Amino acid sequence: MGGSISWLITILLLLVTMLANLRARGEDFDNELSFSNGIQPLEGDEEDEQDEDIIESGFSSRFPVWRSQGAGRIPVNVDSFGAVGDGDTDDTKAFLSAWEKACSLDNAVFLVPEQRRYKVNATRFRGPCQKKLIIQISGTIVAPEEPKTWDPKNPRVWLVFSNLEGVKIQGGGVIDGSGSKWWAASCKINKTNPCRGAPTALTIDSSSNLRVKDLTIQSAQQIHFTISKSEAARISGIRVKSPRDSPNTDGIHISESTDISIQNCRIGTGDDCISIVNGSFNIKMKRIECGPGHGISIGSLGKDNSMGVVTGVVLDMATLTGTTNGLRIKTWQGGSGYVRSVRFENVIMNDVENPIIIDQFYCDSQTTCKNQVPFVIMQTSAVKISQVMYRNIQGTSKTPKAMNFACSDTVPCSNIVLNNINLERENGTTETFCNCAMGFDYGFVRPAADCLRIDESSGCSSGSLNAQNDSRLQCTEL
Ligand SMILES: *[C@@H]1O[C@H](CO)[C@@H](O)[C@H](O)[C@H]1NC(C)=O
Ligand SMILES: *[C@@H]1O[C@H](CO)[C@@H](O)[C@H](O)[C@H]1NC(C)=O
Ligand SMILES: *[C@@H]1O[C@H](CO)[C@@H](O)[C@H](O)[C@H]1NC(C)=O
Ligand SMILES: *[C@@H]1O[C@H](CO)[C@@H](O)[C@H](O)[C@H]1NC(C)=O
Ligand SMILES: *[C@@H]1O[C@H](CO)[C@@H](O)[C@H](O)[C@H]1NC(C)=O
Repeated sequence: MGGSISWLITILLLLVTMLANLRARGEDFDNELSFSNGIQPLEGDEEDEQDEDIIESGFSSRFPVWRSQGAGRIPVNVDSFGAVGDGDTDDTKAFLSAWEKACSLDNAVFLVPEQRRYKVNATRFRGPCQKKLIIQISGTIVAPEEPKTWDPKNPRVWLVFSNLEGVKIQGGGVIDGSGSKWWAASCKINKTNPCRGAPTALTIDSSSNLRVKDLTIQSAQQIHFTISKSEAARISGIRVKSPRDSPNTDGIHISESTDISIQNCRIGTGDDCISIVNGSFNIKMKRIECGPGHGISIGSLGKDNSMGVVTGVVLDMATLTGTTNGLRIKTWQGGSGYVRSVRFENVIMNDVENPIIIDQFYCDSQTTCKNQVPFVIMQTSAVKISQVMYRNIQGTSKTPKAMNFACSDTVPCSNIVLNNINLERENGTTETFCNCAMGFDYGFVRPAADCLRIDESSGCSSGSLNAQNDSRLQCTEL
């Protein structure tokens, strides 16, 4: 008897030592966040560190008190704080109590166990927390489905994690916004509904050095996953699932954030798969599957004459299938600021409606989208778009207009570069449309993009179409 116990203890000790060694081998993920300048490709940072796998396989509720100091992680299981996980009971309080505990401990694992469904109200999980917190979502977190009883203090958010540093969010679980009643109440679905915003399912705000991986986010009330006011975040293995007709359900939305990488994500939804808006710099996306959805977008920017700035965006290796747009930059008329240093490369389009589009006449509102023409446009400001490269873009366009550079007359696009493009249409030809778009193409480019070859010094309206009279430039609602 005694012999077998000491044997067990030896095995356990061995295990702990092994785990600690493995973890030590994993690089500090902070180091891998350092981005090279400008728009270099993502290099060598796609492989995951070993240490996270240990957490995933080594943790389960079967070992609730693994407390070997130093090497060990301290699980803080929401069940230990009274969460029921039957999909119906309100587990909000249990989550908050567990969060308070996990946040106060070094090396804690905030654990949402698998095979359960936890109903949680709009909740803010605030930091700062102690070191090395892991948020392990292995089960399902589900939102209450009734918009009418939604917490009026948090009309636009559901789960918010804020002021965190060096945290990992992972676990293979599901975040389910129960969005269908919100969608039905949207003014985009039924014009008689008032236009009100709905909650974003998962928000990470004012945080840094984050790692978010291996989660499914589905049926969001509105946006699925927002990263705002944050820096140095690596996001990978995120799946977004919502129907193609769900309104405003962007997949991943980046706002006012710097040095963000998004890799190996599969997004199917009713709005942009990824949208990058104001104040975002150095955003890298790699291996993205998008569809259904509205494509991968920079913008919209410049709404209500605001200033919008986005620089340093790279998309490398993406497949877009059946989306309404492919690679899109969208700005409102009358805005200011700029979009600069963007590269889209190695992209496959499958039956995409607007595979390549710059739309400086964007609008998306309930009030009539009136073009600010004909009399005002010559004075209208715009977000300046420059240094945008499209390289190795292949596949099929659903519409003839495979490439559309609808730039502002007053602030033309410049340095648009096309290389190795082949966009065809199953039953017809494709074409390139330009308005005030300056740049050049080289290598194989189909459809031909001669309309880009305009000398900027000559002024754009001499060589190209002019927005004042072109019905194709009427404010587009996509
Ligand atoms: C969660 O929301 C419901 C209404 O949907 C409310 O009855 C309940 O009190 C809320 N829970 C907490 C902890 O606030
Ligand atoms: C739109 O909403 C109104 C009022 O709620 C309702 O009467 C109407 O049936 C709805 N229309 C559709 C198409 O769902
Ligand atoms: C956009 O971001 C810049 C700073 O990056 C800020 O000055 C400006 O106010 C922001 N615009 C909007 C509409 O939030
Ligand atoms: C192309 O034409 C064929 C034969 O007319 C038709 O069956 C097919 O649906 C068409 N494809 C598209 C994308 O329009
Ligand atoms: C705009 O269109 C009108 C008629 O549709 C035409 O008379 C006018 O000359 C056009 N203006 C320009 C600048 O092309």
